[in-house]
Amino acid sequence: MTATLPAELIRRKRDGGELTRTELHGIGAAIADGGFSDAQTGAFAMAVFLKGFSDPERVAFTEGLRDSGSVLTWEHLDVPVVDKHSTGGVGDKVSLLLAPMLAACGTAVPMISGRGLGHTGGTLDKLDAIPGYASQPGLDLLRAAIDAAGCAVVGQTDDLAPADRRLYGIRDASGSVETRDLIVPSILSKKLAAGLHALVLDVKHGSGAFMASVDDARELAQTLVAVATGAGLPTVALLTDMDRVLGTTAGNALEVAESIAALTDPAAADPRLIDVTVALAERVLSVAGVTGADPRAALTSGAAADRFARMVVALGGPADLLERPDDHLAAAPVVRPVHPDTAGVVARHATRDLGLAVIGLGGGRRTDKDAIDHRVGLSAVAGPGTPVGPGADDRPLCVVHARTEAEADAAAAAVRAAIVVAGEDPPAAPAPVPVITEEVA
Ligand code: URA
Repeated sequence: MTATLPAELIRRKRDGGELTRTELHGIGAAIADGGFSDAQTGAFAMAVFLKGFSDPERVAFTEGLRDSGSVLTWEHLDVPVVDKHSTGGVGDKVSLLLAPMLAACGTAVPMISGRGLGHTGGTLDKLDAIPGYASQPGLDLLRAAIDAAGCAVVGQTDDLAPADRRLYGIRDASGSVETRDLIVPSILSKKLAAGLHALVLDVKHGSGAFMASVDDARELAQTLVAVATGAGLPTVALLTDMDRVLGTTAGNALEVAESIAALTDPAAADPRLIDVTVALAERVLSVAGVTGADPRAALTSGAAADRFARMVVALGGPADLLERPDDHLAAAPVVRPVHPDTAGVVARHATRDLGLAVIGLGGGRRTDKDAIDHRVGLSAVAGPGTPVGPGADDRPLCVVHARTEAEADAAAAAVRAAIVVAGEDPPAAPAPVPVITEEVA
């Protein structure tokens, strides 16, 4: 608990004053232990939203949230402990490839992941498509999975940054989510509590990202890197393109299937998915001081696939998931191609709308109480530059996987509006956009 009354701390921030490191650590503890009531926590969040934090305040508050619960240690492993955070996108299955790739490169990866937010998919929701997979294990199972596979992609356990969990709910209910002064401490407190030695951030921009503009993404990346480094965690960020679906699927079981295919046959995978995953791996290995490891080779040799299979088994999933994914990943009852009205070349994706189409199919949440249907989504999504056409023998815009014919109809209409096709006269294949835009260190 803080020595100063909660109301006095809130008043000072409300009036634009500065809080000390000790006070901000105390506020983190008080949010976790009830020393700050819901009303006080909400008022504090709104005061920060309106008046902001200085650079040192942002670091101190992040540390306060981190220290509100357990901070994991991994000394017994004797290898660097690394992780990635993504700001989220549509079809973003990078975590499922990156964690086992990094484990195969000699690091340990306790990857604390989240559920879908807004129009973006969540890694935990994807993993829940795997029967038996314990996506929210306790600390003991998390440690056992790391020992067995070198990686564990799981949800936040109750004792990691509990102040963040309470604060996040109160921010959500009180209209104080969208400020980097609270987003950055929220993201990083969980990463710091996981006991990492190095972190890489995938900060996305474009029509499927929360930050549409590169400038906003860069500003968020710079703040994340500054706060993480200030709190003692060496961190680098890549800005990456989310102006189109990453890979060819969006939807939970479909993305697991695409990830398994990429792990077992990387040559056939979307090169953008592989490129962004390898680039993130290279950056975090470099920050962690790992030399001589080759993440691309970890993929092509099957070493990453082996780590993924071991992780799935350690967390309760099927032993033959990689050999027989179709036996384990449930399929939707209605599966049908969606063709454009006229022939042409895909010019661009309204990517956010494609994410919303997946939610419309039942693959994401409209409210936090909603259950997800892991079977539904989009596959074979045609990227910019792909020729498509209306005939049964033409390449479709994508394949819709739905629970009902009516939901498939609605998704097909949404897809036709969101995948923009330019006519063939003149041919309108867009210039390819690189998936990695810049590095922020
Ligand atoms: N993700 C988080 O964990 N926290 C935020 O505030 C926003 C995104």
